[in-house]
Amino acid sequence: MAARINCSTSIQNSLWLLNPLNSKATTHFRNRLKFRQNLFSLSKGAMFCTCSTNNDKTNTDSTDSFVLTTPLYYVNAPPHMGSAYTTIAADAIARFQRLSGKKVVFVTGTDEHGEKIAAAAAACGSSPSEHCEVISQAYKTLWKDLDIAYDKFIRTTDPKHEEIVKEFYSRVLANGDIYKADYEGLYCINCEEYKDEKELLENHYCPIHLKPCVARKEDNYFFALSKYQKQLEETLTQNPDFVQPSFRLNEVQSWIKSGLRDFSISRASVDWGIPIPNDDKQTVYVWFDALLGYISALSENKDQPNLQTAVSSGWPASLHLIGKDILRFHAVYWPAMLMSAGLAIPKKVFGHGFLTKDGMKMGKSLGNTLEPNELVHNFGPDAVRYFFLKEVEFGNDGDYSEDRFINIVNAHLANTIGNLLNRTLGLLRKNCQSTLVVDSTIAAEGTAFKDNVEKLVENARFHYENLSLSSACEAVLEIGNAGNSYMDERAPWSLFKQGGAASETAAKDLVIILEAMRIIAIALSPVTPNLSWRI
Ligand code: MSP
Repeated sequence: MAARINCSTSIQNSLWLLNPLNSKATTHFRNRLKFRQNLFSLSKGAMFCTCSTNNDKTNTDSTDSFVLTTPLYYVNAPPHMGSAYTTIAADAIARFQRLSGKKVVFVTGTDEHGEKIAAAAAACGSSPSEHCEVISQAYKTLWKDLDIAYDKFIRTTDPKHEEIVKEFYSRVLANGDIYKADYEGLYCINCEEYKDEKELLENHYCPIHLKPCVARKEDNYFFALSKYQKQLEETLTQNPDFVQPSFRLNEVQSWIKSGLRDFSISRASVDWGIPIPNDDKQTVYVWFDALLGYISALSENKDQPNLQTAVSSGWPASLHLIGKDILRFHAVYWPAMLMSAGLAIPKKVFGHGFLTKDGMKMGKSLGNTLEPNELVHNFGPDAVRYFFLKEVEFGNDGDYSEDRFINIVNAHLANTIGNLLNRTLGLLRKNCQSTLVVDSTIAAEGTAFKDNVEKLVENARFHYENLSLSSACEAVLEIGNAGNSYMDERAPWSLFKQGGAASETAAKDLVIILEAMRIIAIALSPVTPNLSWRI
């Protein structure tokens, strides 16, 4: 079947990322890009439809749902590149799962209560609720600019969330796991956590935020975490994949082994929070509140907010994506809280590394952040998404530099993938009036190139499935390299010059390469959705 492809210059221009970037020169192209929302809610198996050598698994799992979450971000300050990183990764995974035919619920949101937020609001001269409104909107705007296609955005100040937290608290209380006691300790306001003296730096400085912890004494309600020590140990032994990457499991196991201490889940000195059901002089501790957001997000707005309906709308989550600094909350506190309330624990917690600047965690508290809006404005969302997912091994730390950013995007997207597309379209226009002379599946039949592309696309699928996002990008890039080598070996430009049968062979080669281009576009679409759509 012959098909005509439109290869007008405007399409070539709108693929600007496939041409080399320089630091500031690219901005003017952005206005031309208008993209459809929810582009990739395709039917099952769409991603590897012509190339998968292992469709069976995809088909069996296709009716499953896949619920994944980012952390709920603190609204003490606008988002920075570190907060965007988790969300970009989550969006790529969500898009991959949608392409694989799963019914995806991608949850994100903002964590709006607690002392840190109240202090940030006061510092800006705003009320806490005005402040939360502004910053949570800043998150939503950034997610839109980065092409984050989330399904649910939960704010912990949402009344439905508050109802569900109270109900959850009451369940845990009824189960005998909450008691009142005095507590005296060193508190890090930025972590919103009491710290053990032995984990602190000199002068009681928090090792994450490099700020001093403050001595606190309070009459609080406590959660009986120690009661769940054995159950947690057993869960991790029976289900070693619960914490990933696997090297983080050891850390979690050693925390548990060293003995779990009950933790305080209310604050007498903090007004900006959800009142405790059995004592309105105290508010719920911000972590005991925020973790419930993963469940309350599932509750449909029209529902009377209630724990059971929220749970039956998709709990347990398939995957919590978090940074390594909040692993203890997700892999120890949260499962124990759920066990106490008689609810299932999430299937997997993945703790990724930090984006660093000069070796230090990039963060709002340290003030060494990278401005995501500026990066997106200068280079577009696809370049930003691609760089961080390809260049930072998911699970490990990674450093940013603008030179590296530009070099990588140029080398991979412009020189490898862009070059292949431009060469092919150029030859097709010059020699075939931009008409495809043969069906691509027939043209590719029996070629070693096709076998290679099939193998690489299966590698990409495997790596996406296992959250090795950098390796998935690498496999797609390999298809681009293979396509360029195929083009060089076959030299269709000289075959066209010979005319006759040689010319037909050359046209067939172009079709084969364009099919590889189509596969590259789909296989990279979880990472570079705009660019893929344009290709
Ligand atoms: N509000 C809590 C999460 C509650 S979830 C029920 C919180 N918020 S946060 O805004 O401080 O951090 C949110 C996420 O951003 C965390 O996963 C954290 O690891 C991540 N990052 C913040 N800075 C980061 C980097 N510099 N690099 C990578 N991720 C980083 O914790």
